[in-house]
Amino acid sequence: MKISEAIQNRSSIRAFKPEGVSKKIQEKILISANMTPSGANMQPWIVYAVSDEALLKKIGDAIIEKMDAGVEHDQFIQYYPLQWINPYKKRRIETGVGLYTLMDVGRKDIQKRTEMWKDNFRFFGAKTVFFVFTDTTLIDGASGAFIDCGAYMQTIMLAAQEYGVASCPQGSTTEYGRVVADVLGTPNNLALLYSVVLGYPDTTAKINTYKPARIDISENVTFL
Ligand SMILES: Cc1cc2nc3c(=O)[nH]c(=O)nc-3n(C[C@H](O)[C@H](O)[C@H](O)COP(=O)(O)O)c2cc1C
Repeated sequence: MKISEAIQNRSSIRAFKPEGVSKKIQEKILISANMTPSGANMQPWIVYAVSDEALLKKIGDAIIEKMDAGVEHDQFIQYYPLQWINPYKKRRIETGVGLYTLMDVGRKDIQKRTEMWKDNFRFFGAKTVFFVFTDTTLIDGASGAFIDCGAYMQTIMLAAQEYGVASCPQGSTTEYGRVVADVLGTPNNLALLYSVVLGYPDTTAKINTYKPARIDISENVTFL
């Protein structure tokens, strides 16, 4: 597979076949991802690769319990901006509306929307989730580790493509990072940044046809 093909073919997958990703393939993906460059080669990513179904359910249940109790987040880091301004606000809305329209979910159908969001915490039926943490000392007044771990995320997703493994990055778990950490029993110095769901795509699922467009590079690139 050409790199350009892997980049073009990747999209966020939100319905998976019941088969899990073998540990061997997970290792191959993680070995590739480990080659991600990082400032001073600090390699700030610390990963819990979870395929234990009961443990994933425990994490999901704990998050959903918090959600149902009205807790909006219990997080280490604030991923999304506190104030949405255009053009980002417009893009966020368009992306959400596109997905809900495809799935025939009405704009005001809060219950269905919430159920769809909760699917994140069922990991879309996937059997493997990589939870990516970093050391809190690296993000205490510094942001480099975020850049490195973001690049690591993309390397995971592109490497996975080679093995026919699809993925969905998750900031939804970021919002309940402390819940995830609590269930996993991670050391106090670790902060959850995000998770990546991995599995084999259900090619019959409508939701997996969703491919949000990108703006033209003339809008975000300045050639000098
Ligand atoms: C850091 C990050 C967090 C994301 N969080 C979620 C999430 O929690 N749930 C979800 O369904 N998609 C999530 N996404 C997927 C984005 O919605 C998706 O990447 C974007 O709409 C572009 O679509 P594509 O990945 O299919 O190209 C996330 C993506 C990134 C990069």
